[in-house]
Amino acid sequence: MTTQHQHWGSRLTFILAATGSAVGLGNIWKFPYMVGESGGAAFVLVYLLCIAAIGMPVLIAEWLLGRRGQKNAIDTMRDLAKENGRSSAWTLLGVSSVLVGAVILSFYSVIGGWSLYYTVQAGAGQFAEQDAAGISDLFEQMLASPATLLLAHTVFMAATVAIVARGLKGGIEASVRLLMPTLAGLILVLLAYAVSTGHFGEAFSYMFSFDLREISGGTVLAAMGQAFFTLSVGAGVMIAYGSYLGHETNLLSTARTVILFDTGFALAAGLIIFPIVFANGLETSEGPGLIFVTLPLAFAEMIGGTVIGLLFFLLLSFAALTSSISLLEPVVEFLSERSSLGRAVSTAVAGAVIWALGIAALLSFNVWSAPLPVIGMNVFDSLDVITSQYMLPLNGLFAALFVGWALKWQGVQDELGLSGGGAALWSILARLVAPVGVAVVFVAGFF
Ligand code: PFF
Ligand code: NA
Repeated sequence: MTTQHQHWGSRLTFILAATGSAVGLGNIWKFPYMVGESGGAAFVLVYLLCIAAIGMPVLIAEWLLGRRGQKNAIDTMRDLAKENGRSSAWTLLGVSSVLVGAVILSFYSVIGGWSLYYTVQAGAGQFAEQDAAGISDLFEQMLASPATLLLAHTVFMAATVAIVARGLKGGIEASVRLLMPTLAGLILVLLAYAVSTGHFGEAFSYMFSFDLREISGGTVLAAMGQAFFTLSVGAGVMIAYGSYLGHETNLLSTARTVILFDTGFALAAGLIIFPIVFANGLETSEGPGLIFVTLPLAFAEMIGGTVIGLLFFLLLSFAALTSSISLLEPVVEFLSERSSLGRAVSTAVAGAVIWALGIAALLSFNVWSAPLPVIGMNVFDSLDVITSQYMLPLNGLFAALFVGWALKWQGVQDELGLSGGGAALWSILARLVAPVGVAVVFVAGFF
């Protein structure tokens, strides 16, 4: 095992990598359709509350664990449990986190493939002069073809493996530096278009006119799951990224930055997509196809739409890629530290297993769409719901409990550079609010 663990090039590169992990398909693809499926503002409200009260303390706890450990998440948990005189069963939190990240990557890559496919379609001018029916046919045809989905999934996974195999710094830091600002610029262009549809106000009130009576247990469970998913917590990713941190980085202010960007991207995506939905008489409850059947319509109509559409899907693909590489990192860090395989081979092995699982997920859209026995959902939905709604919150719950109660508190406080009010607030969130919040949402989800 190596003695000196490698570190990020600078605080900025860490922020970019962590933001790159957080901002992805979860913001632009998943958030809008989940809002649409759960009927709007009630979901948004619970989502924001979960981010602030649960996601934020868990994110900081995971970075803290990673930085303490300076190694993969599994050995980090084992060693920290031992050093602090706690049960070795805490190692299971590391195992569960790394496994969940790998499972998420299997279906994440399928959707990453969709965005690659749409990049090609946009570049070929396929959206031009299409109406709503034509655009939705394009989406249906892609889903109906296992070969198309397999090719796209394979290309996306291969790109993920190619980057991760090169190591922490080889390419990742430079690409996020370029891509994240460009993505932000494009989001603004699309927002301007959304305002011009004349349905912006309707979309705004759809997202923000909270009606507390609309909140059900199911909505709360889904919103909490999405809060974890969007911040990349509970999957070993932020522990792995934290393991490359040195002591100079302030975890609290960095968390604030990452969360602001992530939340901004999600809300902006909703404010772009719903005006288009309302302007074209489409359904908000369209499900996972939502952005693929709405945005191309906007691109078909707007001036320069082919170019903007191409750029949009290209950047969506890159946003997905900066998240998918983060999902692969925990497994690769573990395999390469624990075996003699080396980083490149570890990446290829992990990538191949995850790719194979992804095939089961992509068949859910065509030949294997029947619900699985007992679970009652197809493979894709099962993987998504079990990881996002249950495993991420469960892992996050235990990470907060471990940092809040099992580590020596003085050390935690020193690590965070906290004193007075900040310390009190964070300790209440990590020790009480986050764990109790997750538990309450789980219970509420049964009703
Ligand atoms: N946060 C990413 C997104 O919103 O697209 C997805 C993700 C990445 C989830 C990493 C979990 C994770 F560990
Ligand atoms: Na996100």
